[in-house]
Amino acid sequence: MTAAAWSPSGSNMQPWRAYVVTGGALAEVKKRAGERLAAGDPWDEAEYEQYPPTLKSPYRERRAAFGEQRYGALGIPREDLEARQRAASANWNCFGAPAALFCYIDRDMCAPQWADVGMYLQSVMLLLRAEGLHSCPQMAWAKFHASVAEVLSPPDELMLFCGMSIGFEDATADPARTGRAPLQETVTFLDRR
Ligand SMILES: Cc1cc2nc3c(=O)[nH]c(=O)nc-3n(C[C@H](O)[C@H](O)[C@H](O)COP(=O)(O)O)c2cc1C
Repeated sequence: MTAAAWSPSGSNMQPWRAYVVTGGALAEVKKRAGERLAAGDPWDEAEYEQYPPTLKSPYRERRAAFGEQRYGALGIPREDLEARQRAASANWNCFGAPAALFCYIDRDMCAPQWADVGMYLQSVMLLLRAEGLHSCPQMAWAKFHASVAEVLSPPDELMLFCGMSIGFEDATADPARTGRAPLQETVTFLDRR
Protein backbone atom coordinates (compact mmCIF):
# COMPACT_ATOMS: atom_id res chain seq x y z
CA MET A 1 0.00 0.00 0.00
CA THR A 2 2.97 2.29 0.61
CA ALA A 3 4.20 1.75 -2.96
CA ALA A 4 0.69 2.09 -4.45
CA ALA A 5 0.38 5.47 -2.73
CA TRP A 6 2.93 6.70 -5.31
CA SER A 7 0.34 6.33 -8.10
CA PRO A 8 -0.01 9.45 -10.24
CA SER A 9 -3.04 11.72 -9.94
CA GLY A 10 -4.01 15.04 -11.46
CA SER A 11 -2.46 17.84 -9.35
CA ASN A 12 -1.34 15.07 -6.99
CA MET A 13 -4.75 15.17 -5.30
CA GLN A 14 -4.63 11.43 -4.47
CA PRO A 15 -8.43 11.23 -4.47
CA TRP A 16 -8.55 7.60 -3.30
CA ARG A 17 -9.49 6.42 0.17
CA ALA A 18 -8.90 2.73 0.76
CA TYR A 19 -9.90 0.43 3.61
CA VAL A 20 -8.02 -2.86 3.81
CA VAL A 21 -10.26 -5.29 5.61
CA THR A 22 -9.39 -8.74 6.99
CA GLY A 23 -10.26 -11.04 9.90
CA GLY A 24 -13.39 -10.40 11.93
CA ALA A 25 -14.15 -7.12 10.15
CA LEU A 26 -14.24 -8.80 6.73
CA ALA A 27 -16.21 -11.73 8.15
CA GLU A 28 -18.77 -9.21 9.39
CA VAL A 29 -19.04 -7.50 5.97
CA LYS A 30 -19.46 -10.87 4.24
CA LYS A 31 -22.01 -11.98 6.84
CA ARG A 32 -24.13 -8.85 6.43
CA ALA A 33 -24.08 -9.11 2.64
CA GLY A 34 -24.77 -12.86 2.78
CA GLU A 35 -27.77 -12.34 5.05
CA ARG A 36 -29.22 -9.77 2.67
CA LEU A 37 -28.68 -12.07 -0.29
CA ALA A 38 -30.37 -14.95 1.53
CA ALA A 39 -33.30 -12.69 2.47
CA GLY A 40 -33.64 -11.52 -1.15
CA ASP A 41 -33.13 -7.90 -0.07
CA PRO A 42 -33.02 -5.38 -2.90
CA TRP A 43 -29.67 -3.80 -3.68
CA ASP A 44 -28.86 -0.41 -2.16
CA GLU A 45 -29.76 2.63 -4.18
CA ALA A 46 -26.97 3.22 -6.68
CA GLU A 47 -24.67 6.12 -5.83
CA TYR A 48 -23.21 6.21 -9.33
CA GLU A 49 -24.14 4.69 -12.70
CA GLN A 50 -22.13 1.54 -13.27
CA TYR A 51 -22.84 1.38 -17.01
CA PRO A 52 -24.58 3.60 -19.57
CA PRO A 53 -28.33 2.82 -19.60
CA THR A 54 -28.08 1.61 -23.20
CA LEU A 55 -24.84 0.07 -24.35
CA LYS A 56 -23.92 0.75 -27.94
CA SER A 57 -21.64 -1.25 -30.19
CA PRO A 58 -18.92 -2.48 -29.66
CA TYR A 59 -19.36 -2.39 -25.88
CA ARG A 60 -22.64 -4.33 -26.00
CA GLU A 61 -21.01 -7.17 -27.92
CA ARG A 62 -17.92 -7.17 -25.70
CA ARG A 63 -20.06 -7.34 -22.60
CA ALA A 64 -22.07 -10.24 -24.03
CA ALA A 65 -18.84 -12.05 -24.98
CA PHE A 66 -17.57 -11.51 -21.43
CA GLY A 67 -20.71 -13.17 -20.03
CA GLU A 68 -20.26 -16.13 -22.36
CA GLN A 69 -16.58 -16.51 -21.45
CA ARG A 70 -17.02 -16.03 -17.69
CA TYR A 71 -20.06 -18.26 -17.27
CA GLY A 72 -19.01 -20.65 -20.02
CA ALA A 73 -15.82 -21.34 -18.04
CA LEU A 74 -18.04 -22.23 -15.07
CA GLY A 75 -20.12 -24.54 -17.29
CA ILE A 76 -23.21 -22.34 -16.96
CA PRO A 77 -25.32 -21.98 -20.13
CA ARG A 78 -26.67 -18.59 -21.19
CA GLU A 79 -30.30 -19.40 -20.34
CA ASP A 80 -29.59 -20.64 -16.81
CA LEU A 81 -30.10 -17.27 -15.12
CA GLU A 82 -30.39 -18.78 -11.66
CA ALA A 83 -26.97 -20.48 -11.94
CA ARG A 84 -25.52 -17.21 -13.26
CA GLN A 85 -26.94 -15.36 -10.26
CA ARG A 86 -25.58 -18.00 -7.89
CA ALA A 87 -22.13 -17.63 -9.46
CA ALA A 88 -22.39 -13.83 -9.24
CA SER A 89 -23.34 -14.04 -5.55
CA ALA A 90 -19.81 -15.35 -4.86
CA ASN A 91 -18.82 -11.68 -5.21
CA TRP A 92 -20.25 -10.96 -1.77
CA ASN A 93 -18.21 -13.71 -0.19
CA CYS A 94 -15.13 -12.20 -1.89
CA PHE A 95 -14.83 -15.50 -3.78
CA GLY A 96 -13.53 -16.97 -0.52
CA ALA A 97 -10.62 -14.52 -0.33
CA PRO A 98 -9.33 -13.70 3.17
CA ALA A 99 -8.68 -10.02 2.49
CA ALA A 100 -10.49 -7.19 0.77
CA LEU A 101 -9.91 -3.58 -0.11
CA PHE A 102 -12.85 -1.20 -0.24
CA CYS A 103 -12.08 1.90 -2.27
CA TYR A 104 -13.97 5.13 -1.72
CA ILE A 105 -13.93 8.43 -3.57
CA ASP A 106 -15.16 11.83 -2.42
CA ARG A 107 -18.59 12.62 -3.86
CA ASP A 108 -17.30 16.01 -5.09
CA MET A 109 -14.78 14.51 -7.51
CA CYS A 110 -15.03 14.70 -11.33
CA ALA A 111 -14.27 12.19 -14.10
CA PRO A 112 -10.48 12.74 -14.06
CA GLN A 113 -10.31 11.92 -10.34
CA TRP A 114 -12.25 8.71 -10.96
CA ALA A 115 -9.55 7.85 -13.49
CA ASP A 116 -6.92 8.60 -10.81
CA VAL A 117 -8.64 6.14 -8.50
CA GLY A 118 -8.60 3.54 -11.28
CA MET A 119 -4.86 4.01 -11.69
CA TYR A 120 -4.38 3.67 -7.98
CA LEU A 121 -6.33 0.41 -7.93
CA GLN A 122 -4.33 -0.91 -10.88
CA SER A 123 -1.13 -0.07 -8.98
CA VAL A 124 -2.43 -2.03 -6.00
CA MET A 125 -3.31 -4.99 -8.21
CA LEU A 126 0.05 -5.08 -10.01
CA LEU A 127 1.93 -4.75 -6.73
CA LEU A 128 -0.12 -7.64 -5.34
CA ARG A 129 1.05 -9.76 -8.29
CA ALA A 130 4.63 -8.86 -7.39
CA GLU A 131 3.89 -10.35 -3.94
CA GLY A 132 2.47 -13.53 -5.50
CA LEU A 133 -1.10 -12.51 -4.68
CA HIS A 134 -4.13 -12.20 -6.97
CA SER A 135 -7.06 -9.84 -6.79
CA CYS A 136 -10.42 -9.04 -8.33
CA PRO A 137 -11.81 -5.50 -8.36
CA GLN A 138 -15.55 -5.60 -7.68
CA MET A 139 -18.15 -2.99 -8.46
CA ALA A 140 -20.55 -5.60 -7.12
CA TRP A 141 -19.80 -4.30 -3.62
CA ALA A 142 -21.33 -0.92 -4.53
CA LYS A 143 -24.67 -2.73 -4.60
CA PHE A 144 -24.34 -3.38 -0.86
CA HIS A 145 -22.57 -0.13 0.03
CA ALA A 146 -24.76 0.45 3.09
CA SER A 147 -23.76 -2.90 4.62
CA VAL A 148 -20.09 -2.19 3.96
CA ALA A 149 -20.48 1.25 5.56
CA GLU A 150 -22.07 -0.27 8.69
CA VAL A 151 -18.79 -2.06 9.35
CA LEU A 152 -16.27 0.50 7.99
CA SER A 153 -18.02 3.73 9.12
CA PRO A 154 -16.59 5.90 6.31
CA PRO A 155 -17.24 9.68 6.45
CA ASP A 156 -20.49 10.74 4.73
CA GLU A 157 -18.68 12.64 1.98
CA LEU A 158 -17.21 9.40 0.61
CA MET A 159 -18.92 7.05 -1.82
CA LEU A 160 -17.94 3.42 -2.32
CA PHE A 161 -16.54 2.92 -5.81
CA CYS A 162 -15.67 -0.75 -5.52
CA GLY A 163 -14.37 -3.57 -3.41
CA MET A 164 -11.45 -5.80 -4.27
CA SER A 165 -10.96 -9.41 -3.22
CA ILE A 166 -7.37 -10.26 -2.41
CA GLY A 167 -5.85 -13.68 -1.89
CA PHE A 168 -3.97 -16.53 -3.46
CA GLU A 169 -5.13 -17.97 -6.76
CA ASP A 170 -7.30 -21.08 -6.68
CA ALA A 171 -5.09 -23.26 -8.87
CA THR A 172 -7.93 -25.78 -9.33
CA ALA A 173 -10.20 -23.19 -10.98
CA ASP A 174 -10.73 -23.27 -14.75
CA PRO A 175 -7.80 -21.30 -16.21
CA ALA A 176 -9.96 -20.01 -19.11
CA ARG A 177 -9.31 -16.29 -19.46
CA THR A 178 -11.48 -13.54 -20.77
CA GLY A 179 -10.17 -12.29 -24.10
CA ARG A 180 -9.43 -8.80 -25.36
CA ALA A 181 -10.49 -6.93 -28.47
CA PRO A 182 -8.00 -7.02 -31.36
CA LEU A 183 -5.44 -4.28 -30.86
CA GLN A 184 -6.58 -2.30 -33.91
CA GLU A 185 -9.97 -1.77 -32.19
CA THR A 186 -8.44 -0.03 -29.19
CA VAL A 187 -5.12 1.42 -30.35
CA THR A 188 -4.25 3.65 -33.33
CA PHE A 189 -0.59 4.12 -34.20
CA LEU A 190 0.24 7.30 -36.10
CA ASP A 191 3.67 8.19 -37.43
CA ARG A 192 3.67 11.24 -39.63
CA ARG A 193 6.34 13.79 -40.22
C1 LIG B 1 -13.73 -1.26 -11.91
C2 LIG B 1 -13.91 -2.75 -12.09
C3 LIG B 1 -14.99 -3.38 -11.50
C4 LIG B 1 -15.17 -4.77 -11.63
N1 LIG B 1 -16.20 -5.37 -10.98
C5 LIG B 1 -16.26 -6.73 -10.95
C6 LIG B 1 -17.21 -7.40 -10.12
O1 LIG B 1 -18.04 -6.79 -9.44
N2 LIG B 1 -17.19 -8.75 -10.09
C7 LIG B 1 -16.28 -9.48 -10.82
O2 LIG B 1 -16.29 -10.71 -10.72
N3 LIG B 1 -15.38 -8.87 -11.62
C8 LIG B 1 -15.35 -7.52 -11.69
N4 LIG B 1 -14.39 -6.90 -12.45
C9 LIG B 1 -13.46 -7.71 -13.22
C10 LIG B 1 -13.79 -7.66 -14.72
O3 LIG B 1 -14.98 -8.36 -14.98
C11 LIG B 1 -12.60 -8.26 -15.46
O4 LIG B 1 -11.46 -7.46 -15.26
C12 LIG B 1 -12.84 -8.34 -16.96
O5 LIG B 1 -13.94 -9.18 -17.23
C13 LIG B 1 -11.61 -8.90 -17.69
O6 LIG B 1 -11.26 -10.12 -17.12
P1 LIG B 1 -9.78 -10.38 -16.63
O7 LIG B 1 -9.35 -9.17 -15.87
O8 LIG B 1 -9.88 -11.61 -15.76
O9 LIG B 1 -8.98 -10.62 -17.87
C14 LIG B 1 -14.24 -5.52 -12.38
C15 LIG B 1 -13.15 -4.86 -12.99
C16 LIG B 1 -12.99 -3.49 -12.85
C17 LIG B 1 -11.80 -2.82 -13.47
